[in-house]
Amino acid sequence: MDDQMGMQQWIAQSEQGIESLNLGVEGVLEWAQRYLRSLEDRSVCPPAVWGGLLNHMDAAPPERGVGIGAIQSLIDEADEEFMDRLVHWGSPRFFAYFPCSNSVPAILGELMSAVVNVNGMLWSTSPACTELEVRMMDWCAEMFGLDDGFRFDRSEKGGGCIQGTASEAVLAAVVAARRRCTRRGIDRSLVTVYTSDQAHSSVVKAAMVAGLADDAEDRSRVRVLETDADLRIDPRNLERLMRQDLDAGLVPALVVPTIGTTSTGARDPIEGIMDVVESFGDDRAWVHVDAAWAGAACVCPEFQGLLSGAERADSLCINPHKWLLTNFDCDLFWVRDREVLVDSMSITPAYLRDKASENGGGVIDYRDWHVALGRRMRALKLWFVIRCFGVEGLREHIRGHVELAERFERWVDSDDRVELVCERMLGLVCFRVVGGSALTKGLVDAVNGRGRVMITHSVVPIGQERAGESIARVSVGTPGVQESDIEVLIEEIGVGLDRVLMGN
Ligand SMILES: Cc1ncc(COP(=O)(O)O)c(C=O)c1O
Repeated sequence: MDDQMGMQQWIAQSEQGIESLNLGVEGVLEWAQRYLRSLEDRSVCPPAVWGGLLNHMDAAPPERGVGIGAIQSLIDEADEEFMDRLVHWGSPRFFAYFPCSNSVPAILGELMSAVVNVNGMLWSTSPACTELEVRMMDWCAEMFGLDDGFRFDRSEKGGGCIQGTASEAVLAAVVAARRRCTRRGIDRSLVTVYTSDQAHSSVVKAAMVAGLADDAEDRSRVRVLETDADLRIDPRNLERLMRQDLDAGLVPALVVPTIGTTSTGARDPIEGIMDVVESFGDDRAWVHVDAAWAGAACVCPEFQGLLSGAERADSLCINPHKWLLTNFDCDLFWVRDREVLVDSMSITPAYLRDKASENGGGVIDYRDWHVALGRRMRALKLWFVIRCFGVEGLREHIRGHVELAERFERWVDSDDRVELVCERMLGLVCFRVVGGSALTKGLVDAVNGRGRVMITHSVVPIGQERAGESIARVSVGTPGVQESDIEVLIEEIGVGLDRVLMGN
């Protein structure tokens, strides 16, 4: 630590600390502008080997800090050492996985949240933190056209919270579904979960974390349904398995359909699934709809039909951090019966008891809506985004990406070296190289190896007509993407095709 700048300057609450903020903030802002401008020219996925960074770093932490006066040197060092070793998810030429969305208002909201650094575990520990989140959940329910039963302001029992990720949301659904069973007097060891071979791996993981499966292959109480030719759950198959399990003494407790599966964007038939589940009567299974990626599109009325049937489901999640201009992490999780969710995770040691929460105080305490007790003010970035762009702006953002994906889809259709694997879903186009799986895999490797754009490889699941076959995924969704980036994508795929088809 330098002599002039003592420990006090590290402490944001001290007068010295507050004054010194500008030293760092200016430097970070200047770097942020430089970084964001550089995205277009950077390799999206620079080549890397394990240890590339580790070998550059001291093995032990520094005994003496550089001091706040030298903070710029840390900004420079972070830029030099770390940034070239990242995959640039914010690049307009990032077409891999599903996007990680971002925007200036979201960054500013995150910064404000870091400055206040409150813990909203109880309403009373930061009232506006909770109330802002409650209102954002209702605003988003309205934006996505959700029914009143998921809302705080229009139902007795419904509502939602911000989870870190969709994986945390499905874990919450698993424990809530199990709690609903145990409250009915059902032995918890009989609780069984249903999903599909196209569902995200987080569903099976949640079952493992909740103790319903010993490992990822344990199928004693987790059913991974084979999907139909369109990679969707077949409700008749679901019904057959559920009845079979019931006859065997198990209890169908949770069904997890997906709107917009990770591999190909398939939409499970929620209405048909609800018909099956509801046919089991009042003791029916909990249905959690995973719309982590595709749900964001429902800000546009023309896409709201995707969620049709969710008005009969018990919970639903959508990730604004994937496609709604809100930086990671932000998953919206709604439930129709918040009491059973809270009951599934509620434990109240003396130090968490207060007057507002007890005796029917009528407040929302988010601490028992998820695993973590502490929670930061994540709703602030969402508020910034919605206030800044308005719902109309968010619609424009989604529609622009869907149009760009259509542009790419037209190219796939027009080039006889490649073919669509399935119908485009919103911003996701899946295709393959005509002539074999190895060529498709080779194409993805060749394209990513050049680093100008990044796409993803996936595999059609076991049980399908072309089981085990490689597919290439192009997901349009990074905020800055434009038509010219789609042109670069097509150009790069052309180069890759020349390479794999002609060995160039
Ligand atoms: C459909 C779907 N559900 C869940 C997830 C898991 O998301 P998270 O990283 O928020 O846990 C993903 C990730 O891509 C996904 O595509």
